[in-house]
Amino acid sequence: MASARINPSILSADFVNMERDLGRIATADYVHVDVMDNHFVPNLTFGPQMVGRVQDVSPIPLDVHLMIADIDRWAPGYAELGAFSVTFHVEAARDPVAVARALRERGARAGLAVKPGTPIEPYLELLPEFDQVLVMTVEPGFGGQSFMPETMPKLRALREARARLGVDTWLQVDGGIADDTIAIAAEAGADTFVAGSAVYGAADPAEAISRLRERAQS
Ligand code: DX5
Ligand code: ZN
Repeated sequence: MASARINPSILSADFVNMERDLGRIATADYVHVDVMDNHFVPNLTFGPQMVGRVQDVSPIPLDVHLMIADIDRWAPGYAELGAFSVTFHVEAARDPVAVARALRERGARAGLAVKPGTPIEPYLELLPEFDQVLVMTVEPGFGGQSFMPETMPKLRALREARARLGVDTWLQVDGGIADDTIAIAAEAGADTFVAGSAVYGAADPAEAISRLRERAQS
């Protein structure tokens, strides 16, 4: 792999010390921002106002992960905030291609996410419409859950489709990524890794980031 991207998730940060906790991950590639609405997932985080402030003060670009219903209505606004990438769940979108195009028109990379139980085959031919695909390796909603290795065949299918279609879609994993699981996902084809508790639960988040990067490439 050329370079493993490590995206710490601020779901595991201290919400009242967010600027400090963003500073702790300045050596990462992107900051992963989990937006939840207590409808698409059974948990609630924050919305556009908070994401806009994170965008203002973050030392690194934002990788926004929308776990919300009514995606077609809400997703473009996150691109307008200046996010580097906006990833939405196919299960929540009426017209995923139209949403992807709206994101790209607003200058964001478009990402498609699938829950562990959602097959990837119906979406493989859509890869040229997306800059990244997120294979969830836990049920979305909470940090600190266990990695689900049964999701790995989706990465292999995506890797094959990417080569066949001649595109450069990034393949991202999210959930339970830690020192002992990151190599499994990398071997299956992931190149972009979200880690919440493995980074913010470490005494030294910067050291945790460099160790994850090394293990993804070994
Ligand atoms: C879960 C979120 C993840 C979460 C990952 O629904 O999408 O980004 O922060 O947390 P860990 O790395 O602790 O599994
Ligand atoms: Zn996430």
